[in-house]
Amino acid sequence: MPNDPLAIPSAATERAAQLRVELARHNHAYYVLDNPTIPDADYDKLFRELQAIEQDYPALVSSDSPTQRVGGAPLPQFEQVRHSVPMLSINNGFRDEDIVNFDRRVREGLKTEAGVEYHCELKFDGLAINLRYENGLLVNAATRGDGATGENVTANIRTVRAIPLRLQGDKPPAIIDIRGEVLMFKADFASLNARQRDAGQREFANPRNAAAGSLRQLDPRITAKRSLRFFAYGIGVLEGAALPASHSALLDWYMQMGIPVAAERRIADGAEGLLAFYRDIGLRRAQLPYEIDGVVYKVNAVAQQAQLGFVSRAPRFALAHKFPAEEAMTIVQDIGLQVGRTGAMTPVARLAPVLVGGVTVTNATLHNEDEVRRKDIQIGDTVIVRRAGDVIPEVVSFVPELRPADARPFVMPALCPVCASPIVRPEEEAVARCSGGWVKCPAQRKGGLLHFVSRRAMDIEGLGDQLVDQMVERNVVTTAADLYRLGLGSLATMERMADKSAANVLKAIEKSKSTTLARFIYALGIRHVGESTAKELARHFGSMDALQKADEAQLLDVADVGPVVARSILQFMADPMNVELIEQLRANGVHWEEGASGARPKPLAGLTFVLTGTLPTLSRDDAAEQIEMAGGKVAGSVSKKTSYVVAGSDAGSKLAKAETLGVPVIDEAALLGMLPPSNESES
Ligand code: IVH
Repeated sequence: MPNDPLAIPSAATERAAQLRVELARHNHAYYVLDNPTIPDADYDKLFRELQAIEQDYPALVSSDSPTQRVGGAPLPQFEQVRHSVPMLSINNGFRDEDIVNFDRRVREGLKTEAGVEYHCELKFDGLAINLRYENGLLVNAATRGDGATGENVTANIRTVRAIPLRLQGDKPPAIIDIRGEVLMFKADFASLNARQRDAGQREFANPRNAAAGSLRQLDPRITAKRSLRFFAYGIGVLEGAALPASHSALLDWYMQMGIPVAAERRIADGAEGLLAFYRDIGLRRAQLPYEIDGVVYKVNAVAQQAQLGFVSRAPRFALAHKFPAEEAMTIVQDIGLQVGRTGAMTPVARLAPVLVGGVTVTNATLHNEDEVRRKDIQIGDTVIVRRAGDVIPEVVSFVPELRPADARPFVMPALCPVCASPIVRPEEEAVARCSGGWVKCPAQRKGGLLHFVSRRAMDIEGLGDQLVDQMVERNVVTTAADLYRLGLGSLATMERMADKSAANVLKAIEKSKSTTLARFIYALGIRHVGESTAKELARHFGSMDALQKADEAQLLDVADVGPVVARSILQFMADPMNVELIEQLRANGVHWEEGASGARPKPLAGLTFVLTGTLPTLSRDDAAEQIEMAGGKVAGSVSKKTSYVVAGSDAGSKLAKAETLGVPVIDEAALLGMLPPSNESES
């Protein structure tokens, strides 16, 4: 009888215990140390082994077993939970002077002239949660709710792998309320939305909504399928252990217990130090794997926190320094069309100017015709506009209550507004296109040229939007090959073009003649051939001739190339005008190093590099390109698998991490020494 506990072989009991410890250790390495120890597949194997043992001997199942994260039966509704210690909010500051005033009030409250020690951390854009552990075991999890009462989401929280079911260490407190934020990483958000789209289900507007929607699910099995994460930043009740003397020590203690704490935190002195942290994080915000809406400053010493106390529902010892709002409301005055380099028609909302995240926005993309329909955006609507980092602002939604009676829906015209060629939209495509091609449509010529000269393509500096516009308008340049026939005379006649800048543009054009095959392929602007596909094609075929002659089967052999991409390449190469363009570019002196991929030395094959800080001569992109050309890989974060960290000046946390993990750190000179000698042979 496998159900009889006496009948359980001791080997099974021991192995189950061993597996639980091992799985918890891997979880800890992944979620707390941010340093995975085994591949996902190996984790899954251990996990399934434990599942099998528990299936044979159900008496072995314990509530803290990782197998118990799968999610139980749906709840009829969430229970209300009263927080033993209320969950407060924090006061906000926006301008530098708000921060200076905060620091002054703190010093006045503490009756000190001396600089106060602050703990600087991130303001996570997720939802606040209280985790109660009793004698080390997770017993309850509740949302913030109105601060006094929240909802019991324990069944859902148990499915979140980032949150330990049992605290690490031998002497856990009798009771501890660990507070922090549940959130969804940007990458997980993107793949969740892709899955929602494929399943014909509603997409989430942002990672915060996705996290909230995933956690406030009555069916925990759904939560279990969503990748949620957690970072701790506070404490409620504590019994049976001494409270650490500072906030930073509290977070250190959390990490020892296996609770994830974000690595981006720092002790700072005075208002100056706080503002430096804010600016530093502001610069790195886009690179963080999750969204934040500001930073938080907290007086570090717990005794000083107590001395300062609270005003209404917020502590005097903390301040949230928010980034400028990245969403704003405005009116759609018109919907225009932008014609891309492949003729794609992008509807663009012309907006009443509005400040979004510190930048005035007058245009926002509506992506395509179907998006306009789906979001039901009409001319005259009041809309929410969002910009995140450097990306193009987009229209998120309209406000139904504010729709005027004379609002007009958008209609895709029959003819291209630029060249009057018919607009066509193949049945199976989301995008309508101008059928004129670059021969008839100046907008496509401009788009194609701008792509050709762009930094990741031929990298011709000084050939901006306005100059390309003029050159196309005046028919000075029709194809990219014409760029290499430009003389000082024709350039200097362009508006706002002094002799000196004309000479610089010519110099940049000349310099671009020496390029790489990958850049050249990318610069051609073949539909569906982005930068990484271009690199794969260059690596695979080794020469332009081989690529031009490739048939479908050969193209499909390339990593990254599927039927759609292959067809697009074949179509491009079959067009005599494109063949002519390639020939002329070469005749005008554009060249690169050719040769089958095997012939080029690959001394860095199998090595992974992480770049950090500012290198003395190479830009990050250049360094990455050189490493990749020599067969190496470039990764974004340091792990045990990193072969070398290449550090320049002002290297930050990656350098520190390399040092803790014992990953060798080298400088630019050492990197250059590892590369094969450059060989600028003509093609
Ligand atoms: S501390 C006693 N720290 O911001 C102070 N809150 O307005 C309690 N939040 O609902 C909060 N990151 O969801 C604190 N590092 C952080 C935070 C943070 C995000 C959120 C939290 C809370 C709201 C307070």
